[in-house]
Amino acid sequence: MTISDFKKVLVTGGTGFIGAHIVKNLLNLGIKVRLASRSLEKGQKFVQLHPGKENLIEVVVVKDYTQLEGENPFLEAVKGCDGIIHAASPLDYTVSNVEEELIKPAITGVKVVFEAAATEPLIKRIVLTSSFASVMDDGRGPGPGFTYTGDDWNPLTYEESIKATPVFAYRGSKKFAEVAAWDFMKSQSPGFDLVTFCPPMTFGPVVHPVDYVEDLNLSNANLWEVYQAKELPVSRVAVWVDVRDLALAHVRALITDKASNKRYVPSSPDKFSYKLAAKIMQDHGLGKVKTDDNDLIPQSYDLDYQTIEKDLGIKFRGFEECIVDSIQQFQQLPSKESF
Ligand SMILES: NC(=O)c1ccc[n+]([C@@H]2O[C@H](COP(=O)([O-])OP(=O)(O)OC[C@H]3O[C@@H](n4cnc5c(N)ncnc54)[C@H](OP(=O)(O)O)[C@@H]3O)[C@@H](O)[C@H]2O)c1
Repeated sequence: MTISDFKKVLVTGGTGFIGAHIVKNLLNLGIKVRLASRSLEKGQKFVQLHPGKENLIEVVVVKDYTQLEGENPFLEAVKGCDGIIHAASPLDYTVSNVEEELIKPAITGVKVVFEAAATEPLIKRIVLTSSFASVMDDGRGPGPGFTYTGDDWNPLTYEESIKATPVFAYRGSKKFAEVAAWDFMKSQSPGFDLVTFCPPMTFGPVVHPVDYVEDLNLSNANLWEVYQAKELPVSRVAVWVDVRDLALAHVRALITDKASNKRYVPSSPDKFSYKLAAKIMQDHGLGKVKTDDNDLIPQSYDLDYQTIEKDLGIKFRGFEECIVDSIQQFQQLPSKESF
C-alpha cells in the first residue's frame, strides 16, 4: 500500500489529544479527513485551527457511544473512506458507573466502527488506538528485567473490571474493546486488516482546541500539576511516549504493508517519573518547582519499541524534549484563574 491508496480517512477522537495529532499528520500528507465527533461545535473549532486546510476536513456528528441504542451512525460516516483510525474512547476517572460509562461504550465504539467498516469495500485498514492498559499484567510487578511485547495481554477479567475503581476499570475498557476488534477480525474475516497500538502514558504539546490550561487532557494535566509545584501526581508506570511520535506511528501504520495485523507497544526508550519532570522543569527555568536529584529515574520493565522503529521508521523522542516543548506551550495557554 502507498499514500495514494488513502484519499480519505475516517478519524474518531480527532478532536482529542492524540487524535488531533493523527489528523495533523494525515493533512500534512494531503489526505482528506472525515472527523467524527459528538459535537459539531468542537469539530468546527478544530477546522478553524487548520487555516488553509479547511477543504481537507469534513466534520460528521456521531452520538456518544453510551447512547447508540442499536443505531450505527458510522454506516453513513464510512462511505467513501479508504481507511479508519479509531482513537475515540471514554477516558474519565470521575465516572460513577464504570461498566456503563467506560467499559461498555469503549466496546460499543469498536463494534459499530468495525461493523460499518465491513460495509465499505474501499476500506483497506483500521488502525486502533488501544492502550498499554490492555497489555500490562500487574502480577508481574514493576520490573526491571523483562520486556512487554505485542504478544502480552492484561489478564484482567470482565467481572473484575466492572467491580474495579475507574482507574482499573479503564484498563478493562481498553482490553475488552481491543479484544472485540481482534475477535471481529477472526470471526468476520472482513476485507480490511487491523493494526493496534498499545501506548503507555502519552505526553506532549497539544494541537487540539484547548481553551484554558485547566482543560488539558488527563495525562498532560499531570505535567501541569508538576509545573505548578503542587504535590507530585501518583505515577503507576514509568513508561511513556511522546504524542508526536505516537501519531506519526499511527499514520505510517496505515500505509505500511509490514504493519498488517500487528499489535505494537510504542514507548520512548527513556523512563519517566513526575520527579524527573520536575527536575527538567527546574533545570530549564520553567515554573517554581524545586527538587533534588534522588531517585529521579525509576526501575522499570521495558516495552518493545524497537519493533516499531524497525517496521515504521520511528525514532522515539526523549523525556527532556517532551517536557520542555510541552511546558513552553502550556505556559502560553490562557488560565481560568486570570478571568
Ligand atoms: N492520553 C493518554 O495518556 C493515553 C494513553 C494510552 C492510550 N490512550 C488512548 O488514546 C485514545 C485517545 O486518547 P486521548 O488522550 O486523546 O483522549 P481525549 O483527549 O479524551 O480524546 C478522546 C476522544 O474520544 C471521544 N470520546 C470520548 N468519550 C466518548 C464517548 N463516550 N463516545 C464517543 N466518543 C467519545 C471524544 O471526541 P468528541 O468529543 O469529539 O466526540 C474525545 O475527544 C483513547 O482511545 C485512549 O484510551 C490515551
